[in-house]
Amino acid sequence: MADNTMSFLFTIIISFGFCVLYASAELQRFALSSKHDGSLSFLVLGDWGRRGAYNQSQVAFQMGKVGEKLDIDFVVSTGDNFYDNGLTSDHDNAFEESFTKIYTAKSLQKQWYSVLGNHDYRGDAEAQLSPVLREIDSRWLCLRSFIVDSELVEIFFVDTTPFVHDYFIQPQEHKYDWRGIGSQKPYITNLLKDVELALRESTARWKIVVGHHAIRSVGHHGDTQELINQLLPILQANNIDFYMNGHDHCLEHISDTESPIQFLTSGAGSKAWRGDTKQMNRRDLNFFYDGQGFMSVKLTQTDASIEFYDVFGNVLHRLTSSKQLHSSM
Ligand SMILES: *[C@@H]1O[C@H](CO)[C@@H](O)[C@H](O)[C@H]1NC(C)=O
Ligand SMILES: [Zn+2]
Repeated sequence: MADNTMSFLFTIIISFGFCVLYASAELQRFALSSKHDGSLSFLVLGDWGRRGAYNQSQVAFQMGKVGEKLDIDFVVSTGDNFYDNGLTSDHDNAFEESFTKIYTAKSLQKQWYSVLGNHDYRGDAEAQLSPVLREIDSRWLCLRSFIVDSELVEIFFVDTTPFVHDYFIQPQEHKYDWRGIGSQKPYITNLLKDVELALRESTARWKIVVGHHAIRSVGHHGDTQELINQLLPILQANNIDFYMNGHDHCLEHISDTESPIQFLTSGAGSKAWRGDTKQMNRRDLNFFYDGQGFMSVKLTQTDASIEFYDVFGNVLHRLTSSKQLHSSM
């Protein structure tokens, strides 16, 4: 009898172990369908939640107009969703004050795919992942790392905050909510393994990686060395087209010097104009704007067209990229 109970318990423990292993070996996937003409378009915004202040509402207004013009399918948020310190709980009214009541345009009533930024980790990070928020506003979907997937494009959202050593060893006056992360090293090792596997297996036409922190930036925070060392080699080895991020409160476009990857910062959803830049004369820098704005992306089987906008809706910079239609498709 006791033996039976023991082996029953053992089976449960083993099965549970497998579930945990399986869960960590696969990023959650969300399916996307492209428009009838096979294209997809979306907006990218970062560093925004300030109850409308610092031009957040002006940016939202222009997003509504551009969103309508492009008939966008969804919105990507690159993190630092709620200032100064994320949400206090899943009932924090900052969620409605900074999100629901700000992005009110009809064209923005689409799914929002969000990652967490370092400021989000300074509050109750798990609150932003909570289904309670999706009940309050069904547009909201925030997870640590996940994949949005269609044949045309696969977007890999990567939780970059836990990569940054200083947040663990020199948090200064800030407290980070590392519940659900545990120790830094195994978390990062597992995450990189999952991301690498998913990138390697992807057959999408376009491959985009989204994180909060920049790999390359000439803004206030600059490059993120941990991502250059650990994430960039995986992106370079797997034919990634674009890496999109926030964190620096600016709009910028930098080209990788060793691969076709384009680094695109859209972190200008509210407070900007920091006036603090570095290495502006680097050859790989195509565009930098210190003020508020956002980015749009339109993809077809053969072309990508990306535009950066300011608070007046002016297009400040445009990049296009083309792919041949290969027979291997
Ligand atoms: C809002 O945007 C305008 C136009 O770029 C700029 O002149 C102004 O300083 C911005 N306000 C804030 C608070 O950043
Ligand atoms: Zn940040």
